Amino acid sequence: MTYFSALNKYKNNDYIKYMEEYASNHKVPILKEEGLDLLVSIIKMNNVKNILEIGTAIGYSSSVFALINKDIRIDTIERDELMYQEALKNINALGLESQINIIFEDALNVDLSTLKLDQYDLIFIDAAKSQYTNFFTKFEVKLRKGGIIFSDNLLFHGLVENASGKESRNLNQMLRKIRAYNEWLSNNEAYDTTFLRIGDGIAISIKK
Ligand SMILES: C[S@@+](CC[C@H](N)C(=O)[O-])C[C@H]1O[C@@H](n2cnc3c(N)ncnc32)[C@H](O)[C@@H]1O
Repeated sequence: MTYFSALNKYKNNDYIKYMEEYASNHKVPILKEEGLDLLVSIIKMNNVKNILEIGTAIGYSSSVFALINKDIRIDTIERDELMYQEALKNINALGLESQINIIFEDALNVDLSTLKLDQYDLIFIDAAKSQYTNFFTKFEVKLRKGGIIFSDNLLFHGLVENASGKESRNLNQMLRKIRAYNEWLSNNEAYDTTFLRIGDGIAISIKK
Protein backbone atom coordinates (compact mmCIF):
# COMPACT_ATOMS: atom_id res chain seq x y z
CA MET A 1 0.00 0.00 0.00
CA THR A 2 1.35 3.42 -0.85
CA TYR A 3 1.81 6.22 1.73
CA PHE A 4 -1.00 8.27 0.16
CA SER A 5 -3.57 5.49 -0.15
CA ALA A 6 -2.84 4.33 3.41
CA LEU A 7 -4.22 7.66 4.64
CA ASN A 8 -7.66 6.35 3.65
CA LYS A 9 -9.13 5.16 6.94
CA TYR A 10 -10.90 2.10 5.53
CA LYS A 11 -7.50 0.59 4.86
CA ASN A 12 -6.84 0.46 8.59
CA ASN A 13 -9.16 -2.47 9.21
CA ASP A 14 -7.02 -5.47 10.25
CA TYR A 15 -9.32 -8.00 8.62
CA ILE A 16 -9.27 -6.08 5.32
CA LYS A 17 -5.46 -6.14 5.54
CA TYR A 18 -5.60 -9.90 6.16
CA MET A 19 -7.75 -10.31 3.02
CA GLU A 20 -5.22 -8.30 0.98
CA GLU A 21 -2.44 -10.58 2.20
CA TYR A 22 -4.50 -13.70 1.52
CA ALA A 23 -5.21 -12.49 -2.03
CA SER A 24 -1.55 -11.75 -2.62
CA ASN A 25 -0.37 -15.11 -1.17
CA HIS A 26 -2.99 -17.13 -3.07
CA LYS A 27 -2.79 -15.10 -6.30
CA VAL A 28 -6.45 -14.08 -6.13
CA PRO A 29 -6.99 -11.02 -8.33
CA ILE A 30 -8.69 -8.28 -6.31
CA LEU A 31 -9.41 -4.67 -7.20
CA LYS A 32 -6.19 -2.68 -7.07
CA GLU A 33 -5.61 0.30 -4.83
CA GLU A 34 -6.33 3.08 -7.38
CA GLY A 35 -9.51 1.46 -8.69
CA LEU A 36 -10.77 0.70 -5.20
CA ASP A 37 -10.10 4.23 -3.92
CA LEU A 38 -11.92 5.64 -6.97
CA LEU A 39 -14.89 3.33 -6.54
CA VAL A 40 -15.13 4.13 -2.83
CA SER A 41 -15.25 7.85 -3.61
CA ILE A 42 -17.88 7.32 -6.33
CA ILE A 43 -20.02 5.40 -3.82
CA LYS A 44 -19.68 8.21 -1.26
CA MET A 45 -20.19 11.09 -3.73
CA ASN A 46 -23.29 9.55 -5.30
CA ASN A 47 -24.79 8.29 -2.06
CA VAL A 48 -24.86 4.81 -3.58
CA LYS A 49 -26.86 2.35 -1.47
CA ASN A 50 -27.64 -0.67 -3.68
CA ILE A 51 -24.74 -2.40 -5.44
CA LEU A 52 -24.56 -5.39 -7.77
CA GLU A 53 -21.11 -6.95 -8.15
CA ILE A 54 -20.28 -9.53 -10.80
CA GLY A 55 -17.23 -11.44 -9.52
CA THR A 56 -16.95 -11.71 -5.71
CA ALA A 57 -13.67 -13.63 -5.40
CA ILE A 58 -12.91 -13.64 -1.62
CA GLY A 59 -15.37 -10.81 -0.88
CA TYR A 60 -12.67 -8.14 -0.59
CA SER A 61 -14.20 -5.30 -2.63
CA SER A 62 -17.75 -6.04 -1.42
CA SER A 63 -16.54 -5.92 2.22
CA VAL A 64 -14.83 -2.58 1.65
CA PHE A 65 -18.03 -1.18 0.09
CA ALA A 66 -20.23 -2.50 2.92
CA LEU A 67 -17.93 -0.98 5.55
CA ILE A 68 -18.44 2.53 4.07
CA ASN A 69 -21.96 2.74 5.43
CA LYS A 70 -24.39 0.38 7.21
CA ASP A 71 -27.18 1.30 4.76
CA ILE A 72 -25.27 -0.12 1.79
CA ARG A 73 -26.65 -3.41 0.43
CA ILE A 74 -24.74 -5.61 -2.01
CA ASP A 75 -25.71 -8.56 -4.17
CA THR A 76 -22.52 -10.20 -5.43
CA ILE A 77 -22.19 -13.16 -7.80
CA GLU A 78 -19.43 -15.80 -7.83
CA ARG A 79 -19.24 -19.06 -9.80
CA ASP A 80 -16.14 -20.61 -8.22
CA GLU A 81 -16.99 -22.69 -5.14
CA LEU A 82 -13.65 -22.19 -3.35
CA MET A 83 -13.92 -18.42 -3.80
CA TYR A 84 -17.55 -18.49 -2.71
CA GLN A 85 -16.71 -20.39 0.50
CA GLU A 86 -13.81 -18.06 1.27
CA ALA A 87 -16.03 -15.01 0.70
CA LEU A 88 -18.74 -16.43 2.98
CA LYS A 89 -16.15 -16.98 5.71
CA ASN A 90 -14.75 -13.45 5.37
CA ILE A 91 -18.12 -11.73 5.28
CA ASN A 92 -19.22 -13.63 8.41
CA ALA A 93 -15.95 -12.78 10.15
CA LEU A 94 -16.60 -9.10 9.45
CA GLY A 95 -20.24 -9.39 10.55
CA LEU A 96 -21.47 -8.13 7.18
CA GLU A 97 -24.01 -10.92 6.43
CA SER A 98 -26.98 -8.56 6.65
CA GLN A 99 -25.43 -6.23 4.06
CA ILE A 100 -23.85 -8.65 1.58
CA ASN A 101 -25.73 -11.41 -0.22
CA ILE A 102 -23.46 -13.80 -2.15
CA ILE A 103 -25.03 -15.70 -5.03
CA PHE A 104 -23.13 -18.87 -5.93
CA GLU A 105 -23.75 -19.23 -9.66
CA ASP A 106 -22.42 -18.27 -13.07
CA ALA A 107 -23.60 -14.69 -13.52
CA LEU A 108 -24.86 -15.48 -17.01
CA ASN A 109 -27.18 -18.15 -15.55
CA VAL A 110 -28.58 -16.04 -12.72
CA ASP A 111 -32.33 -15.58 -12.85
CA LEU A 112 -32.84 -11.82 -12.47
CA SER A 113 -35.96 -12.36 -10.38
CA THR A 114 -33.86 -14.10 -7.68
CA LEU A 115 -31.72 -11.01 -7.04
CA LYS A 116 -32.49 -9.60 -3.60
CA LEU A 117 -32.53 -5.96 -4.69
CA ASP A 118 -34.97 -4.55 -7.25
CA GLN A 119 -32.85 -1.79 -8.65
CA TYR A 120 -29.19 -0.91 -8.31
CA ASP A 121 -27.44 2.44 -8.06
CA LEU A 122 -24.18 0.86 -9.18
CA ILE A 123 -23.11 -2.29 -11.01
CA PHE A 124 -19.47 -3.33 -10.70
CA ILE A 125 -18.39 -5.71 -13.48
CA ASP A 126 -15.28 -7.61 -12.36
CA ALA A 127 -15.58 -11.17 -13.69
CA ALA A 128 -14.49 -13.02 -16.89
CA LYS A 129 -13.17 -10.27 -19.19
CA SER A 130 -14.36 -11.99 -22.37
CA GLN A 131 -17.99 -11.79 -21.15
CA TYR A 132 -18.18 -8.09 -20.29
CA THR A 133 -20.66 -7.19 -23.04
CA ASN A 134 -22.88 -10.12 -22.00
CA PHE A 135 -22.77 -9.09 -18.32
CA PHE A 136 -23.57 -5.49 -19.22
CA THR A 137 -26.53 -6.30 -21.47
CA LYS A 138 -27.92 -8.87 -19.05
CA PHE A 139 -27.85 -6.76 -15.89
CA GLU A 140 -28.35 -3.18 -17.16
CA VAL A 141 -32.15 -3.54 -16.87
CA LYS A 142 -31.61 -3.62 -13.10
CA LEU A 143 -29.74 -0.30 -13.08
CA ARG A 144 -31.70 2.84 -12.24
CA LYS A 145 -31.61 5.90 -14.49
CA GLY A 146 -28.55 7.94 -13.49
CA GLY A 147 -26.95 4.76 -12.11
CA ILE A 148 -23.36 3.77 -12.79
CA ILE A 149 -21.72 0.75 -14.39
CA PHE A 150 -18.08 0.46 -13.36
CA SER A 151 -15.92 -1.81 -15.55
CA ASP A 152 -12.34 -2.69 -14.62
CA ASN A 153 -9.30 -4.20 -16.43
CA LEU A 154 -10.13 -2.66 -19.79
CA LEU A 155 -6.46 -2.22 -20.70
CA PHE A 156 -5.57 -5.71 -19.47
CA HIS A 157 -2.01 -5.02 -18.28
CA GLY A 158 -1.57 -2.59 -21.15
CA LEU A 159 -1.94 -5.36 -23.73
CA VAL A 160 -5.25 -4.05 -25.10
CA GLU A 161 -3.34 -1.00 -26.34
CA ASN A 162 0.12 -2.41 -26.94
CA ALA A 163 0.20 -6.11 -27.65
CA SER A 164 3.70 -7.44 -28.38
CA GLY A 165 2.52 -9.73 -31.17
CA LYS A 166 3.78 -12.74 -29.21
CA GLU A 167 0.54 -13.35 -27.31
CA SER A 168 -1.10 -16.77 -27.35
CA ARG A 169 -4.20 -17.40 -29.45
CA ASN A 170 -6.41 -17.45 -26.35
CA LEU A 171 -4.98 -14.22 -25.01
CA ASN A 172 -5.41 -12.55 -28.40
CA GLN A 173 -9.02 -13.66 -28.49
CA MET A 174 -9.62 -12.13 -25.06
CA LEU A 175 -7.86 -8.89 -26.03
CA ARG A 176 -10.10 -8.68 -29.12
CA LYS A 177 -13.18 -9.11 -26.92
CA ILE A 178 -12.05 -6.40 -24.49
CA ARG A 179 -11.36 -4.03 -27.43
CA ALA A 180 -14.82 -4.83 -28.84
CA TYR A 181 -16.38 -4.09 -25.42
CA ASN A 182 -14.50 -0.77 -25.17
CA GLU A 183 -15.70 0.27 -28.67
CA TRP A 184 -19.26 -0.86 -27.97
CA LEU A 185 -19.28 1.05 -24.68
CA SER A 186 -17.86 4.16 -26.29
CA ASN A 187 -20.63 4.09 -28.94
CA ASN A 188 -23.46 3.13 -26.57
CA GLU A 189 -25.82 6.13 -26.76
CA ALA A 190 -27.84 5.00 -23.74
CA TYR A 191 -24.84 5.69 -21.48
CA ASP A 192 -22.38 8.49 -20.97
CA THR A 193 -19.04 6.71 -20.54
CA THR A 194 -15.66 8.03 -19.39
CA PHE A 195 -12.57 5.87 -19.89
CA LEU A 196 -9.86 6.42 -17.29
CA ARG A 197 -6.22 5.40 -17.40
CA ILE A 198 -6.38 4.38 -13.76
CA GLY A 199 -5.25 1.00 -12.45
CA ASP A 200 -5.70 -1.47 -15.27
CA GLY A 201 -8.10 0.74 -17.25
CA ILE A 202 -11.51 1.71 -15.93
CA ALA A 203 -14.76 2.81 -17.58
CA ILE A 204 -17.48 4.66 -15.73
CA SER A 205 -20.80 4.54 -17.60
CA ILE A 206 -23.74 6.63 -16.43
CA LYS A 207 -27.21 5.54 -17.56
CA LYS A 208 -29.01 8.41 -19.32
C1 LIG B 1 -11.17 -10.22 -10.36
S1 LIG B 1 -11.99 -11.39 -9.39
C2 LIG B 1 -13.14 -10.43 -8.46
C3 LIG B 1 -12.46 -9.57 -7.44
C4 LIG B 1 -13.37 -8.84 -6.48
N1 LIG B 1 -14.36 -8.06 -7.17
C5 LIG B 1 -12.53 -7.94 -5.61
O1 LIG B 1 -12.03 -6.89 -6.10
O2 LIG B 1 -12.33 -8.24 -4.42
C6 LIG B 1 -13.05 -12.16 -10.56
C7 LIG B 1 -13.94 -13.27 -9.98
O3 LIG B 1 -15.01 -13.45 -10.92
C8 LIG B 1 -15.37 -14.81 -10.93
N2 LIG B 1 -16.08 -15.05 -12.20
C9 LIG B 1 -15.55 -15.08 -13.44
N3 LIG B 1 -16.51 -15.28 -14.36
C10 LIG B 1 -17.68 -15.37 -13.67
C11 LIG B 1 -19.03 -15.59 -14.05
N4 LIG B 1 -19.37 -15.77 -15.33
N5 LIG B 1 -19.97 -15.62 -13.09
C12 LIG B 1 -19.64 -15.45 -11.78
N6 LIG B 1 -18.37 -15.25 -11.35
C13 LIG B 1 -17.41 -15.21 -12.29
C14 LIG B 1 -14.03 -15.54 -10.79
O4 LIG B 1 -14.22 -16.86 -10.29
C15 LIG B 1 -13.26 -14.63 -9.85
O5 LIG B 1 -13.36 -15.07 -8.51
